[in-house]
Amino acid sequence: MAQSNLYSRVIGTGSYLPADRVTNQDLADRLAKQGVETSDEWIVARTGIHARHFAAPNETTSDLALHASRNAIEAAGIDPDSIDLIIVATSTPDFVFPSTACLLQNKLGIKNGGAAFDIQAVCSGFAYAVATADSFIRGGMNRTALVVGAETFSRILDFNDRTTCVLFGDGAGAVILQASDEPGVLSSALHADGSHSSILCTPGNVNKGVIEGSAFLHMDGQAVFKLAVKVLEKVAVEALEKARLTPGDIDWLIPHQANIRIMESTAKKLHVPLERMVVTVGEHGNTSAASIPLALDVAVRDGRIKRGQHVLIEGVGGGFTWGASVIRY
Ligand SMILES: CC(C)(COP(=O)(O)OP(=O)(O)OC[C@H]1O[C@@H](n2cnc3c(N)ncnc32)[C@H](O)[C@@H]1OP(=O)(O)O)[C@@H](O)C(=O)NCCC(=O)NCCS
Repeated sequence: MAQSNLYSRVIGTGSYLPADRVTNQDLADRLAKQGVETSDEWIVARTGIHARHFAAPNETTSDLALHASRNAIEAAGIDPDSIDLIIVATSTPDFVFPSTACLLQNKLGIKNGGAAFDIQAVCSGFAYAVATADSFIRGGMNRTALVVGAETFSRILDFNDRTTCVLFGDGAGAVILQASDEPGVLSSALHADGSHSSILCTPGNVNKGVIEGSAFLHMDGQAVFKLAVKVLEKVAVEALEKARLTPGDIDWLIPHQANIRIMESTAKKLHVPLERMVVTVGEHGNTSAASIPLALDVAVRDGRIKRGQHVLIEGVGGGFTWGASVIRY
């Protein structure tokens, strides 16, 4: 039974980046060996990215999720067995099935029979996962949720396509959301428009034991750029209005870390000063569903985000999907 004064609150955050840090120059050197030309200068100027991390060959998305989850559980100071809901947002799951969330539950040693499932909303995945977990908790279905964004995008990058392979990285971020009488997640807004599915996609499937179509990420960068800038501002305003707040009330803007130019353009449209935007794209690249919880954890751990402050998260990605939440930390 839903209670009107029941909220979900963030009680811990965690994140993890694989050990292999690859600078733009490292990547340019690797690509040059196969005749693909790029440069640190081009990547920094067009995206703001300086480096990204790539998972080791034997490291899977659930492995990255495990490290981030353990950090979040430790920060929250909870017994893992109190987690009765696990949601993993990912577009690069370990397997077709079972879900990465079920694999993660097992790796965490949780045996309480709580619910576990993946959300597939590409780079908006974490926004979708937070809104879903918040609804489940406020509806009284669950009490303590582990919400993770985890990706190994390096596995679906075509390293012969310089327009995409320089943009993405691997990583994971996690939050523990718990039922509380005190406000936490104040509002959420989610949207999708499947008519734009072809501008950002990995259009392959497994059919009779072989991959049919392409298992590589394809993107029309300029089309994505234009649509992203348009929808991010709108969904941010929608989430703020639902929370009865204005951009001036926002202490920290945490956009999906795709490209510094998209991020700055949204912040300017919202009139949020750039110094109130958390930026990790330079060091992480675009880690898709992991980018927002990674940035959140960085800013919580370095002391920028404090209890009681308002944080606006917003994501956009393949589908086309987009979403935002306003969180009182
Ligand atoms: C991908 C993106 C950085 C490309 O920037 P852009 O300014 O649109 O660049 P263009 O695609 O017009 O390409 C400009 C030139 O750079 C070249 N180029 C593309 N990638 C390059 C690379 N890695 N290194 C060097 N040159 C490159 C192109 O071939 C083109 O050359 P030409 O003018 O000789 O044809 C930009 O479109 C973008 O950020 N889009 C959004 C991507 C995104 O965020 N996706 C995820 C959303 S969740």
